[in-house]
Amino acid sequence: MDTALAVVFLSPLLLLLVAAETPVYGLYETCVVSQLSGNQNPFNYTEVVTQGLFSGPDGNTTVDGFYYQAYERSNVGGSEKLTPDGSPQWCVRYSPSSPGSFDMTFIITNSSGTFTLKTDSFEASDDKLAGFIKLGSNQVHFQYANKSTYYPVGENVCWVGEGQGTYGYDDYFGKLAANGGNYARLWLTDRAWDDLTVEVKLGNMSLDDTWRLDYVVQLAEKLDIHLLMCTESYNNFCTVSDGAHPYFWWICLFIQSCSDLYLGSV
Ligand SMILES: *[C@@H]1O[C@H](CO)[C@@H](O)[C@H](O)[C@H]1NC(C)=O
Ligand SMILES: *[C@@H]1O[C@H](CO)[C@@H](O)[C@H](O)[C@H]1NC(C)=O
Ligand SMILES: *[C@@H]1O[C@H](CO)[C@@H](O)[C@H](O)[C@H]1NC(C)=O
Ligand SMILES: *[C@@H]1O[C@H](CO)[C@@H](O)[C@H](O)[C@H]1NC(C)=O
Ligand SMILES: *[C@@H]1O[C@H](CO)[C@@H](O)[C@H](O)[C@H]1NC(C)=O
Repeated sequence: MDTALAVVFLSPLLLLLVAAETPVYGLYETCVVSQLSGNQNPFNYTEVVTQGLFSGPDGNTTVDGFYYQAYERSNVGGSEKLTPDGSPQWCVRYSPSSPGSFDMTFIITNSSGTFTLKTDSFEASDDKLAGFIKLGSNQVHFQYANKSTYYPVGENVCWVGEGQGTYGYDDYFGKLAANGGNYARLWLTDRAWDDLTVEVKLGNMSLDDTWRLDYVVQLAEKLDIHLLMCTESYNNFCTVSDGAHPYFWWICLFIQSCSDLYLGSV
């Protein structure tokens, strides 16, 4: 084999040997194409669970993986249309909080046993990102992980116009950021409105709405808007009779009317 050819063959390998970089407080993600057998429900932990085992300067951490479908969006007469982009995958995400080298093993447990799906290594670089927001030491004000003050200015965005999907968030968040907003609350729960209802029913997540949520989070990050996710709504407790809520059965055991929620009988 002559030298020129050897270089052509070797260079992709060399690239693979250089560990990818993820900023501290940034997002590390890895995915593998999922093969489900028979009627396996990817959302039922009794049937199949994926986990990422991370080991590095943060210590050893286990993070649950998730089932994911990517989509391409298109605007059809003002309505969003999603078309699947590639096959469903198992993915896992991690946000390092210290710089240094991390090792990752992605495992799957199903009725046949536990198997390694993938191993990987990456470097967490100190890019001076502000990090996650939490209560400051006075328990009153918000601060970023890097101790800078966060003062939220924004609104309860809830949902967008019917059928607009992520295009509606482009519009709302674009205007919010242009007017100095840095905060939005999202509703993720209520089929009755056109919000991002990520859980269709108990044991079934909505792959299109979880993709939309990803889009909206990335959009918010780009526009420096921070999100408060509302994962439950009093409406679901007040409309137990329509059976729309994923936890309908157990809620019914305890709550007979909306006022039970507020008057402390449960
Ligand atoms: C369990 O996962 C392994 C690795 O992906 C796969 O080869 C096997 O077919 C799976 N078994 C079942 C019952 O899904
Ligand atoms: C989840 O709900 C969707 C839409 O109703 C349906 O197409 C899909 O088969 C369901 N998946 C499971 C695992 O129940
Ligand atoms: C952390 O994980 C690594 C790699 O899996 C292992 O060698 C080490 O013993 C673990 N450390 C602790 C404290 O569990
Ligand atoms: C924390 O991050 C914010 C936003 O990126 C930045 O303005 C600020 O200077 C950082 N503070 C420190 C102490 O690094
Ligand atoms: C989850 O899977 C187990 C085993 O197949 C089954 O008994 C259970 O009913 C499933 N749960 C849901 C919520 O589908």
